Amino acid sequence: MLGPILLGTAGVSLRPPTLAEAQLLQRMQTLPETTRFWGPRYGEYTAAHVEERFKRLVSGESSVNWSIHLDQEAVGFTGIFHIDWIRRDAETGIFIGRPDLYGKGVATEAIRLRTAFAWRELRLHRLHNWIGLANRGSRRANKRAGYTEIGRFEQAWFRSGEWVTEWLGEARNPDPQ
Ligand SMILES: CC(C)(COP(=O)(O)OP(=O)(O)OC[C@H]1O[C@@H](n2cnc3c(N)ncnc32)[C@H](O)[C@@H]1OP(=O)(O)O)[C@@H](O)C(=O)NCCC(=O)NCCS
Repeated sequence: MLGPILLGTAGVSLRPPTLAEAQLLQRMQTLPETTRFWGPRYGEYTAAHVEERFKRLVSGESSVNWSIHLDQEAVGFTGIFHIDWIRRDAETGIFIGRPDLYGKGVATEAIRLRTAFAWRELRLHRLHNWIGLANRGSRRANKRAGYTEIGRFEQAWFRSGEWVTEWLGEARNPDPQ
């Protein structure tokens, strides 16, 4: 599904993604700076493949997808994925493609908007997020929206000569019904 427009602070907003943005962000997903703690670092990056993946993502009924905008520019994406509508549990994720923006609060605001939407509109009960333990920026931004650690998966994957431990966090709807 396409997520609706959510206006945040400091020029950050979440908006329904377009194919052109998906193509742009796909290129950003091949940069060494953006894949340090995340991403496959391999795959098919042709325009046709990106289009097919984009169509599948936005037409599916188990995810809500947004582009992250800073002022007028699409700088990343975020979403709520693998939604289990019976258990009301889902996985979340985020990507910002411009490393020059890291540490300026864009993810914190995007995750705040996404989490509020999950509680207020989707009425989900729980969100969870797998994050490379060394990915302090992602852990911090999620913690600021209420995620807490519930476990670690040691030696989850191998990158840059070392095994990576994954951190698993969850947030629960503060107003459950
Ligand atoms: C991880 C990511 C989403 C963080 O986005 P961001 O906009 O830089 O995050 P924020 O500016 O909101 O920062 C949140 C906190 O993390 C800290 N932080 C951000 N980047 C950091 C870094 N590289 N190293 C250490 N701390 C960092 C900020 O200082 C802030 O700390 P505070 O809460 O103590 O003030 C972004 O770096 C990114 O998209 N990386 C590539 C893809 C990725 O790793 N996605 C997450 C997969 S789980």
